[in-house]
Amino acid sequence: MNNSVQRYNKVAVVLHLVVALCLFAMIGLGWFMSELPKDLPKAPAVDLFNLGFYSLQLVEPMSPRSFYFNLHKSLGVTIFALILFRFYWRLTHEVPAFPATMKEWEVKLAEYMHKGLYLLMLAVPTTGALMAVFSKYGIVWFGVRLVEGMNNEGLREAFKEAHEVCVTLLAILIAVHVIAAIKHKVIDKDDVMQRMSLH
Ligand code: HEM
Repeated sequence: MNNSVQRYNKVAVVLHLVVALCLFAMIGLGWFMSELPKDLPKAPAVDLFNLGFYSLQLVEPMSPRSFYFNLHKSLGVTIFALILFRFYWRLTHEVPAFPATMKEWEVKLAEYMHKGLYLLMLAVPTTGALMAVFSKYGIVWFGVRLVEGMNNEGLREAFKEAHEVCVTLLAILIAVHVIAAIKHKVIDKDDVMQRMSLH
């Protein structure tokens, strides 16, 4: 690994933070919307996340399930673009080496973890998009139709399964990643956390 840089630059730190927040939000939204009943009638407004705080007026009446599914797909496509940019940044820039205090197996494990995180960050939106393409609804990005639905139930079901498996694996890897970062800060007391922060 190239070690001529000591820390991640501002672009990398901001991308890391923004993509992480977006993934948390999308995982929450995905789980929330999947639990919504399929038989709710179309309504002219939705109570955002059923919290009773804000009622959003819709352009056309829609069932809550359709509203949140469309929102999830629109945000998902946008975040996919951000993830692709992050991936491109990572492939074209040097990253700091791991601390010399880390054992060889720890470095190997960290490298596999990071590769796994990138792979799943790409696999989750890809499988989601393919599921939507093979459904009868296709993808509408904030009101703009991107892809017509192909209405292939078998393939939709397969990619739905793949989306759920990849999301579960991603959530597990993120949890391990966060625990590892805290271990570096609290137990190893090295600069790993520091070099991915804004200051
Ligand atoms: C960007 C990252 C994304 C994350 C973190 C994410 C996360 C999730 C989660 C947690 C679920 C619930 C799975 C379950 O019920 O166990 C879900 C469902 C779903 N996602 Fe995503 N998603 C992402 C991107 C996308 C994209 C790009 C699309 C389509 C364009 C999409 C389409 C869907 C659909 C249609 C469902 C509902 C499946 C069903 O219950 O029929 N997702 N997503």
